[in-house]
Amino acid sequence: MTHTAHSFNVLFSEAGEFVESRLQGIAEALPAPAPTRLRDSIMYSLTAGGKRLRPILCLKAAQVFGMGWERSLPLALGFEMIHTASLIHDDLPAMDNDVLRRGKPTNHVLFGESLAILAGDALLAWAFEYPLTQLAGADVPADRICEAMRIMANACGPFGICGGQVLDTDPESMEDGADFPFKVAAQKTAVLISACVESGAALGGADKKEACAFRAYGMHLGAAFQMVDDILDVTSSAEELGKTPGKDATQNKKTFVSLFGLEETRSLAKIESEKAIEAISGIKGDTGFFEALSGYLVERTR
Ligand code: IPE
Ligand code: IPE
Ligand code: MG
Ligand code: MG
Ligand code: MG
Repeated sequence: MTHTAHSFNVLFSEAGEFVESRLQGIAEALPAPAPTRLRDSIMYSLTAGGKRLRPILCLKAAQVFGMGWERSLPLALGFEMIHTASLIHDDLPAMDNDVLRRGKPTNHVLFGESLAILAGDALLAWAFEYPLTQLAGADVPADRICEAMRIMANACGPFGICGGQVLDTDPESMEDGADFPFKVAAQKTAVLISACVESGAALGGADKKEACAFRAYGMHLGAAFQMVDDILDVTSSAEELGKTPGKDATQNKKTFVSLFGLEETRSLAKIESEKAIEAISGIKGDTGFFEALSGYLVERTR
């Protein structure tokens, strides 16, 4: 089914509001003995807003294979926990040293560095414990849970966010050459975005080939997403972004924009977005949402 911009926006907001309402309620799953300050620090960042792209991707991918949102929700929330943990750590003085995130002071500005580090670590571990407990309790087949969580784990580790953040922040790991920004973006951003759709699909009952197609979709979508993030860092404002613009240049990051310029990066993002759509062209279910999303993310302003 093809979507108009309006119908896509409605579907995206619907899923976003569903995620938002459940995230607000999740504090109850964090009772004592979790120290109150740790709980406050975690919930501060988790409920600070954001587009909720990753959990939406996960819910929607499981839905293509017939699994309802209620059932896949714990996995989707796990992905938002991982993403939020990565943002808390990304903003630390030792990394991007940012004071504004999702329109609010960053976690370490409010809670201090020690709590911000620990809130990120705790969120990362909770991102596994929570879906494992909830999905097993809801009788989701164990082999599907196992595959979904394997994909999730891969995205956080040396081949995913941690690897990518090393390439992004460690001067000795930086390389010259036109493929470096692609390498960084693939690991720090696209592997997680890809994991959301691939593991959502796997949980929903996709076969290997279908899950693979979604993985490829997510890798291209993730590359396009980081290209636009790099563009917005140059062209947007703190009000619109909810984070400090101009940071990449200040910190001499090797971004798509610093290497290719704005115009060329825009065309690269379009190419990646088309490749994403192509990757899922063989899927039998209704993938209209994913096709529309790919176009929307290239045009986004925040
Ligand atoms: C920002 O992600 C970090 C990147 C990977 C570029 P988002 O732009 O999805 O941030 P939120 O979740 O909307 O705040
Ligand atoms: C962040 O990339 C990627 C991860 C958090 C893993 P950026 O450093 O470009 O993200 P922003 O611009 O601070 O959101
Ligand atoms: Mg960064
Ligand atoms: Mg940053
Ligand atoms: Mg950025």
